[in-house]
Amino acid sequence: RPSVGLIGWRGMVGSVLMQRMVEEKDFAKINPVFFSTSNAGGPVPELPGIDTSETLQDAHDIEMLAKLPIILTTQGGDYTNEVYPKLRAAGWKGLWIDAASALRMDDESIIVLDPVNRDQIEAGLKNGINQFVGGNCTVSLMLLGLGGLMRNGLVEWGTAMTYQAASGGGARHMRELLKGFGTLHDIVAEDLQNPSSAILDIDEKVITAQRDGSMDTSQFGAPLAGSLIPWIDSDLGNGMSREDWKGMAESNKILGRTGDDVMPLESVTVRIGALRSHSQALTLRLTKDIPLDEIEELLANDNDWVKFVPNTKEASMQQLTPVAATGTMDIPVGRVRKLAMGPEYISAFTVGDQLLWGAAEPVRRMLMIATG
Ligand code: HSE
Repeated sequence: RPSVGLIGWRGMVGSVLMQRMVEEKDFAKINPVFFSTSNAGGPVPELPGIDTSETLQDAHDIEMLAKLPIILTTQGGDYTNEVYPKLRAAGWKGLWIDAASALRMDDESIIVLDPVNRDQIEAGLKNGINQFVGGNCTVSLMLLGLGGLMRNGLVEWGTAMTYQAASGGGARHMRELLKGFGTLHDIVAEDLQNPSSAILDIDEKVITAQRDGSMDTSQFGAPLAGSLIPWIDSDLGNGMSREDWKGMAESNKILGRTGDDVMPLESVTVRIGALRSHSQALTLRLTKDIPLDEIEELLANDNDWVKFVPNTKEASMQQLTPVAATGTMDIPVGRVRKLAMGPEYISAFTVGDQLLWGAAEPVRRMLMIATG
């Protein structure tokens, strides 16, 4: 059983990763070595199958890290930027599996999403690639939902308008959103008790609170509850947010499309008041006029997780929402129809749990591929 250094297991993505590893009995296949950035010497997590006589190692101890053949980190980009170069400088040749974006677009990295690019991963392992990085959540969820078209080269170009959950920002962002809902509710709770209270008065109280600075916006920088924020991640200065930019850059990298073969895929990425499932509405121009039933079949049969949702009101409301997708490995895709722009144009809507397939699962599966 190969020894695997685990860093960031206590965080939100790390906790979801630990849950999945327990569910899949992955700890029986590896010898886990738990690290901590702040609590070296402390107890290792009490998880089924873990030897709790061990203690936490220091996640900044390069010598200790360098003893391991595989390291998997969900600690975040700052940790990667600090520790990874030192580890390689010390001559470490092991496999680095990372959920953070720091190394993603590096030429030496493969973005891991094995239902979509298993070939690339296998070839990389054979050719000595040793940096494997999970993709941006929105990108991974889109490629799983639309793999049937994207992987078969059937998309000429597309746009993705996203509806991204608070969890993409982190645990504190989820709390801030929920507190925001509570603050707004408290302000009008009494009025809501009275069915004949004036709705415009209620509305006025809510918008006043959203504007007067009384809501906690320390994480998002603007009130999210009862509103939305049409910008995610940093400002690239060219009208794009970093999250908009990732859509095209990472999708093409995962699909192995470069140079003239790059698929134009533009995004407007938007934060909404969902908790942990990202959604996106896509407009796609296909490379040819494909009958709708064939499109549906391609989408439905691409991988084990995509779940085709018939384009009806009832099915969409019940099966194609963050409420339906959260906590599951399913990637519902629906609202598929031909558009007025021409027979090659379709719409689609897809949803997925941002912490599962969006973050923890691709790196978990990479670890299992690497440990064979
Ligand atoms: N950048 C994403 C978001 C999260 O903020 O929703 C992870 O890829």
